[in-house]
Amino acid sequence: MAQQKSFSSNLGAIMAAVGSAVGLGNIWRFPYICGKYGGGAFLIVYLCFVFLLGSVLMMSEFVIGRRAQHTPIKAFQALCPKHKAWGLVGLLGIITSFFILSQYLVISGWTTGYVWNSISGTLASLGTDSGAISSFFKEFSTSQWDPVLFLSVFAVLALVIILGGVQKGIENVSKVLMPLLVLLVLVLCVRSLTLPGAGKGVEYLFSPDFTKLTGEGVLAALGQALFSLSVGMGVLLVYGSYIPVNDNIFKTAMWITACDTLIAVLAGLAIFPAVFSCGFEPAGGPGLVFHVLPNVFNTMGTTGTIFASIFFVLLMVAAITSAISLLEALTAWFSEHTGTRRVVGALLFFVLTTALGILFSLSLGSLSHIKIAGLCLFDFVDRMNSIYLPPLCALGTIIFFGWVLPEEDVKDELSNHGTLKIGYYRLFRFLARYVVPVALLVVLVAGMLS
Ligand code: PHE
Repeated sequence: MAQQKSFSSNLGAIMAAVGSAVGLGNIWRFPYICGKYGGGAFLIVYLCFVFLLGSVLMMSEFVIGRRAQHTPIKAFQALCPKHKAWGLVGLLGIITSFFILSQYLVISGWTTGYVWNSISGTLASLGTDSGAISSFFKEFSTSQWDPVLFLSVFAVLALVIILGGVQKGIENVSKVLMPLLVLLVLVLCVRSLTLPGAGKGVEYLFSPDFTKLTGEGVLAALGQALFSLSVGMGVLLVYGSYIPVNDNIFKTAMWITACDTLIAVLAGLAIFPAVFSCGFEPAGGPGLVFHVLPNVFNTMGTTGTIFASIFFVLLMVAAITSAISLLEALTAWFSEHTGTRRVVGALLFFVLTTALGILFSLSLGSLSHIKIAGLCLFDFVDRMNSIYLPPLCALGTIIFFGWVLPEEDVKDELSNHGTLKIGYYRLFRFLARYVVPVALLVVLVAGMLS
């Protein structure tokens, strides 16, 4: 049965997809790797990757989803009825979304916990003692109950939004939270950029240093471009099936790509000038967000509590709109596949991903003795989620799109049945057939060798 659900407008579709794209990846990952691999030099490479490769993948997912009006597995099968095995690419997307959401919940749970700890003043009470701040995080993240509690609170919030439905839940929440997110990041940027010595942070982020742009940096840029745009997990395929028929897929994808990139850069401007101004060294990942930043905020005195609260709310807003897109993909797939109501799929995947998230969280503490390939469960799934699953799913999708889906179908969908001009089409087709698959293969092989 074809899906009937849809976003109510172009703006709604853009907001929801920007919500999916802008997430933890923009705020805690992008600024750090940008600085580490050569600032402006990295930014140039990153911009090429997001606009030339990431947006092509995004458009391919949108085209497949909107054309088929199905969720991942059936979408591939409906567009290529002779070779049902293409459905395996969709299955890979579902599996990827499932594991990414389970892991995402752990970090989102920490974020929720830090919203609480900053508002309640607990973080401020640690003062400017770096040692105390990092042991607080270590104890918090490896303890038995706190992370589980906050993870569950976050997952319940995501569930409630999904139960609201595509328009009333996802679309309406995104329309409120995305402008809020922009406002919060701008407030933090103004604070950070007006601190004494902020220029050093801006320099770290932007001044181009081509000697730091190693092969590893180029690969990191590509991996980050895919993750940040939420491509390679079937999530945008599902959102594509909700895009109104008269929307211009190309313009929609360009808006999403531009907003996602802009917010990543703004996040960098909100973070690094403050870090340098307060005399700290930049760090990446959890170290940046949960050690360095609380320290930075605490050096600001009483206003620091306010800025810390704003920052963690910002991070939580970014995380929730990404988490709901993952839960939506799983929910929509399940209800289409089994013919059951949305609530059944939403509850099922809420329970499964929360349970797995709890297991991953405990694997950092009391269950750290359980190892796969020498890694604790959290690190193992982190490796799968960053190196193998998304590029593999993206590769399957782009090969299907570039080489299997009839060209007339692609043109028809991009031009809205001939009503829109598609002057970009030749370049787009070349990228989709040759450049993107080769780039993904390189990422996969390099990831396996690393
Ligand atoms: N794009 C999100 C981020 O930057 C992560 C994400 C990936 C969300 C895939 C949904 C699907 O954090």
